[in-house]
Amino acid sequence: MLSISVKEFLFWKKKQLSKGGDQQSFAVLLDCLGGLTINDQYLMNVKPEGKLYLKKNLDYLGSIWDNHLQESQPIQYLCGITFWRDLKLKVSNKVLIPRPETELIVDIVFNIFGKRSQKLFFAELGTGSGAISIALALAYPFCDGIATDIDQDVLEIAIRNYRNSCKQSNLKFFCGNWWSPLESYKGKLDLAVSNPPYIPRNTYEKLPKEVKNFEPKVALLGGEDGLKHIREIIQKAPFFLKEKGWLILENHFDQGENVKELLIKNKFTSIEIVKDLSGIGRFTIGRYK
Ligand SMILES: C[S@@+](CC[C@H](N)C(=O)[O-])C[C@H]1O[C@@H](n2cnc3c(N)ncnc32)[C@H](O)[C@@H]1O
Repeated sequence: MLSISVKEFLFWKKKQLSKGGDQQSFAVLLDCLGGLTINDQYLMNVKPEGKLYLKKNLDYLGSIWDNHLQESQPIQYLCGITFWRDLKLKVSNKVLIPRPETELIVDIVFNIFGKRSQKLFFAELGTGSGAISIALALAYPFCDGIATDIDQDVLEIAIRNYRNSCKQSNLKFFCGNWWSPLESYKGKLDLAVSNPPYIPRNTYEKLPKEVKNFEPKVALLGGEDGLKHIREIIQKAPFFLKEKGWLILENHFDQGENVKELLIKNKFTSIEIVKDLSGIGRFTIGRYK
């Protein structure tokens, strides 16, 4: 541990942020590589006296920050960590960095099932870092869940995140294409959630380089119109959901009405487009019959 005065540290921090980048990314760097928790960082701003202790020296932290700014590489990949809801998750460039707007999926589940449900059996299709499934498994410790992904390397990261987050054993992980790992659970799910790849090809080609050059294409691209995977998930959902089981999907900002149509066509009811905190119809939900 390296000791430094808080004043000197705050001066250095101001200089780093003046080069560019945002406060949130800088906070991730300080927490993950500097060893200063978000709470420590808050406290030193309100009480800038005394000393603090860092796991790495300022030159090293500054060089990672420069790398982030120059290469547009997400700080979460450089640090190998991200924060999502109250979870601290490992990430590598094999997995999508879970987005803040996706956090709302967990609240949608709470709204539907309450916070104390004891008999929920859920599946998440395309779990990535495991964020959604782990949050649900922790919120419902007496319920069971299954998290799937097409990529075994991705699942290894999700499994590690689950083990690091709790000592529970109510979440299983399976590899395969959308519903195919769930063949033996047909008609048994109370809930399926998915944030599938939904970016249309044209939009994908124009994504900012911090996304396109670093985040996995398989996690983003949803075919020509962006709906390729959503279509497949909705069409097969009726075989896996219980009668009255719920499907919750995240979609692109302008896909809500199309997703709603697909749900109607496949005999879903109680369909609703749910807005995110920016007022965008980010989620489409429905109940199978
Ligand atoms: C948009 S990311 C979502 C990751 C995570 N659930 C989240 O919200 O941060 C989509 C995920 O779906 C996975 N995926 C892509 N195609 C798939 C397929 N055919 N079957 C299963 N999973 C797939 C990707 O590997 C990726 O982890």
